[in-house]
Amino acid sequence: MALEDPILRLWPQPAVEVALEGLYLREGLQHKHRDRAGLPFVYTNFIASLDGRIALPHPEKPAMAVPGELANPRDWRLFQELAAQADAIVTSGRYMRERAVGGAQDVLAVYQDAAFADLRDWRLAAGLAAEPAVVIMSLTLDFPLPSFLRGANRPVIVFTGAEASAQRIAGLAGAGVEVVQEEGPGPVRGGSVVHGLAARGYRSIYSVTGPEVMHTLLAADVLDRLYITYAHRLLGGEQYASLVEGFRLVRPVDMQLATMYYDAHAPDGAGQCFARFDRRYIQA
Ligand SMILES: NC(=O)c1ccc[n+]([C@@H]2O[C@H](COP(=O)([O-])OP(=O)(O)OC[C@H]3O[C@@H](n4cnc5c(N)ncnc54)[C@H](OP(=O)(O)O)[C@@H]3O)[C@@H](O)[C@H]2O)c1
Repeated sequence: MALEDPILRLWPQPAVEVALEGLYLREGLQHKHRDRAGLPFVYTNFIASLDGRIALPHPEKPAMAVPGELANPRDWRLFQELAAQADAIVTSGRYMRERAVGGAQDVLAVYQDAAFADLRDWRLAAGLAAEPAVVIMSLTLDFPLPSFLRGANRPVIVFTGAEASAQRIAGLAGAGVEVVQEEGPGPVRGGSVVHGLAARGYRSIYSVTGPEVMHTLLAADVLDRLYITYAHRLLGGEQYASLVEGFRLVRPVDMQLATMYYDAHAPDGAGQCFARFDRRYIQA
């Protein structure tokens, strides 16, 4: 499953073989602005099994994690191509905890890896900062800030609730982190994050979080695009995370298939599909 092996475009028709590397770099996300009201363009990406698992308990660590049976270098390359186009990456307090115990893939500090050095060059040539800003959503603020984000030369912004601990806010501020509190009670709203990032000049926002933040984005109707890799495997498992978790959405969020590629080369020959869905807006 070398990165050089091509994939087959199934949609739009006609079907045609295309290269995997560079596929998502051509999406032009760094130039996108949400059409409505000039808000940032918000996109997300998942890899899931056919039975909808995005995370299962880590075999050794006290954490949930992307199952090893799903993760593969071909999907990871596309994940990083999407990250390369982002002004800001949205992650969560829980991810920071899982990362701290060694249970999570590193989605925040990748350009030191020689395999992705081309993406750092690509960012600079595209006029983006060397690394995307890091946005952490957390109500508890109960996570350790890794050393590479302390006094970092990339912005780190935490969105939290109105009742968050003043002591933890002060600790984060002392490490050079900007903390933004929700105005009303309860969880941070998707609209607050998007407007807050717009006000700070960010345009392309890549959410790399799981089902709760996904629900927050959908409930506020601020998600513009979903990239999803379906690994052609079924995993089962009683304790698992899926794409969206939370109360039933008041209105279904309709998405339109934009592209679909068949990759016969991973994982372990079982194959996978890379699909892109765009938010389908009904014209008023
Ligand atoms: N397969 C994939 O493609 C994929 C993609 C993403 C994630 N995952 C996996 O899925 C699992 C869950 O991921 P995750 O923890 O990043 O996702 P998540 O379920 O969206 O994040 C949960 C945490 O985010 C914070 N949060 C969520 N909504 C919030 C809101 N409205 N306001 C304030 N804080 C909010 C909370 O942090 P606090 O508890 O600190 O308050 C909460 O515990 C992980 O194992 C991850 O590796 C898999």
